[in-house]
Amino acid sequence: MAVQISPSILAADFARLADEAAAVPNADWLHVDVMDYHFVPNLTLGLPVVEALHKATDTPLDCHLMIADPDRWAPQYAEAGAGSVTIHAEAAKAPIRTLREIRSLGARAGLALNPATAVDPYEDLLGEVDMLLLMTVEPGFGGQKFLDVVLPKVRRARELIGRHGGRVWLQVDGGVDAGTIERCAEAGADVFVAGSAVYGASDPVAAIDELRAAANRAVS
Ligand code: DX5
Ligand code: ZN
Repeated sequence: MAVQISPSILAADFARLADEAAAVPNADWLHVDVMDYHFVPNLTLGLPVVEALHKATDTPLDCHLMIADPDRWAPQYAEAGAGSVTIHAEAAKAPIRTLREIRSLGARAGLALNPATAVDPYEDLLGEVDMLLLMTVEPGFGGQKFLDVVLPKVRRARELIGRHGGRVWLQVDGGVDAGTIERCAEAGADVFVAGSAVYGASDPVAAIDELRAAANRAVS
């Protein structure tokens, strides 16, 4: 289980996205939060920005779609060059079809669950996904407080993933920082999204190194 860090550009300067991508050369992914004012009460960016960002950086894009109609739009993010496209279980009407479409276009397929959505009903879908994203804040905004109440679900998800061969990555997103990442790693997460903890730091590269070291310490 290799630790991966995916800085969220939601906390970056949107006027300088190419520079902000270049500021984190030690990131495994760039986490791109797509919000549509419908699934969440916030609006960020969409396909044209993802296409432009993909051209501006070699770091693979980890697109987290917080949108009301992922069945319609997710495949286009894969076509736009995203390395990973994650849809919300609460929003998808045909998750199996959409996850298969994402994969067929060459991207990794992710399924996200809000803090109050149980993971057990999705066990049978694990074969269809490359990553499970467990939200550790209510989706919509950066800089929120980490919800410890989600940790038992992280443990449970790791158990279910283990039962299905251990191939699926387990991502946590929201309030992940130097103080909370160890609890997430101990519970079984291996991909860590961090917005404020990376882009809010005076030295984003050092912040990523510290997060990675803390997560590795927790599992060693
Ligand atoms: C929240 C987003 C997160 C957000 C995390 O809806 O999905 O990716 O950027 O930001 P922090 O790390 O500041 O909680
Ligand atoms: Zn996110």
